[in-house]
Amino acid sequence: MSIEIIRDLRGLHSSIARHRNGPLNTAASLAIVPTMGAIHEAHEALVIEAKKHANIVLATIFVNPLQFGENEDLSKYPRTEAEDIKRLEEKGCDIVYIPDNKNMYPDNFDLTINVPKLSSILCGKKRKNHFQGVATVVAKLLLQSGADYAIFGEKDFQQLLIIKSLVRDLDIPCQIVPIDTIRDSEGLAISSRNQYLDSEQKKIANNINIILNDASKNFHTKEIQETINFVKDNFKKVGIKKIDYVEIRNNFTLENINNSNKSNARLFIAVYINDVRLIDNIKL
Ligand code: PAF
Repeated sequence: MSIEIIRDLRGLHSSIARHRNGPLNTAASLAIVPTMGAIHEAHEALVIEAKKHANIVLATIFVNPLQFGENEDLSKYPRTEAEDIKRLEEKGCDIVYIPDNKNMYPDNFDLTINVPKLSSILCGKKRKNHFQGVATVVAKLLLQSGADYAIFGEKDFQQLLIIKSLVRDLDIPCQIVPIDTIRDSEGLAISSRNQYLDSEQKKIANNINIILNDASKNFHTKEIQETINFVKDNFKKVGIKKIDYVEIRNNFTLENINNSNKSNARLFIAVYINDVRLIDNIKL
């Protein structure tokens, strides 16, 4: 069956109703894969995971203006709709929902969802309001679709925890399913931003994963600050000139951890290679 392309909410509701009650079976379950398009291997892995959980898979493509800061160029975000639809269909998506801004945020739209503690640290420090935008659109997509499962990648680990938290606190009956960070053959976490790296910059970026792995191997024999310094020093050695943050925090709460209890630690980094901002994280 070919993928169904839907552009408004009424269409979404009737498509989901048809799929849920249609030839599949009456107890058909639905998994959602929210994306901003520019579909790559990591999105495809989300769809593959979605198919393991549910018999209907819905992907969404919406470049969400609420999650872009003033200095972040919304208009330059890659838009490759035809290619995206093809890739989603090839991976077995049943429905793709592509609302426009007016559909998602009508003129009288007046709501912000904020998960303040988790959103104010790490990427939230520099990217003011970014996670409010993410939380608002994800809550809407989960409620609009009534999905039983929603799949997110661990590359955006802070985003994942924020979404888990909002689903819990708003009692949204949707199970959040995380998948491991998808990496290219050289270990770089796959992101739509990687396409902006030239070959020299890509070589530099390939070191990120190597350095994080090295840091994780020695974590339990060192003080926390030593691990942080190790990562920063090695980033500089391989030519990463601008570091946004290198932090070690609790894997569930994102709270700081101390040397007397180093369990459930995760290392989070954000760096710039030229103007390209890359993030990554690793369980320690
Ligand atoms: O991770 C993303 O691509 C976006 O933040 C998401 C979850 C699709 C919300 O716009």
